[in-house]
Amino acid sequence: MKIQIITLFPDMFTGVLQNSMLWRAQDRGIVSYEYVNLRDFGKGPRRQVDDTPYGGGDGMLLRPEPIVASIETAKQNDPGALVILPTPRGETYKQSHAKRLAANNHGLIIICPRYEGYDERIIKWVDHSYCIGNYVLTGGELPAMVIIDSVVRLLPGVLGGENSAEIESFQADDQTIEFPQYTRPETFEGESVPPVLLTGNHAEIAAWRKSHSHKDQA
Ligand code: ADE
Repeated sequence: MKIQIITLFPDMFTGVLQNSMLWRAQDRGIVSYEYVNLRDFGKGPRRQVDDTPYGGGDGMLLRPEPIVASIETAKQNDPGALVILPTPRGETYKQSHAKRLAANNHGLIIICPRYEGYDERIIKWVDHSYCIGNYVLTGGELPAMVIIDSVVRLLPGVLGGENSAEIESFQADDQTIEFPQYTRPETFEGESVPPVLLTGNHAEIAAWRKSHSHKDQA
C-alpha cells in the first residue's frame, strides 16, 4: 500500500514511521511512505500556502489551490488512492474505519491541514474526513500518524506470526474492549495474577476475559 502524505512538516513523521512495526512494514515492502510537500505548491516567491479568512476571524487558512494541486500530483502516482482529510469536523475515527481502509485495494493520500484550517472548497477532492477525538490539535500530522498506525498494523504480514491484531481490542466491533493481561512475576507489590489465568482451562479463561472486556473507569 502506497501512503502519500501531504504536509508542510514531513520531518514530524520520521520518528514514528521509521521505527518499530511501521518501519518493519516498509522494510518488508508491504507499505511505502511518500511525502508531498505542500510548500512546493505555494504561490509567489515566498510560496505562500495560507491566507486570511473571508468574514474575518483569527488565524490563517490554507488556500485551496496548493492543496488541490498537491492532491492531483499524488493522484498521478496512484490514481485510485483514497483521499483522507483529518479534521475536527470529520466523522469520529473508529476501528471499523481502519479495517475498511486496510482492506481497500488502493493507496491512501492523507492531507495534513495546518494553521486554523483549510478552505472548505477542497472537500470535493476528499473521500473521507475523520476526527480522531474531541479535542483540537495544531495540525493534521498527529491524526495522520494515528490513522497510518491503525491501518498499517492490520495489513497482512505486518504483525508477523502474531495474531494479536485479530484478538485484541475493538476487533469484533467498535464496542469490544480488550481484557486486562498479566505476565511474570506472578505476584507484584502484593498483587497476584487472577488465579483463573494460571489454570490452563481455556474455556474458563475465555469466559473470564469476556466478562472483563470493558473500559477502565477514570
Ligand atoms: N485536526 C485538529 N484536531 C483534530 C482532531 N481532533 N482530529 C482530526 N484532525 C484534527
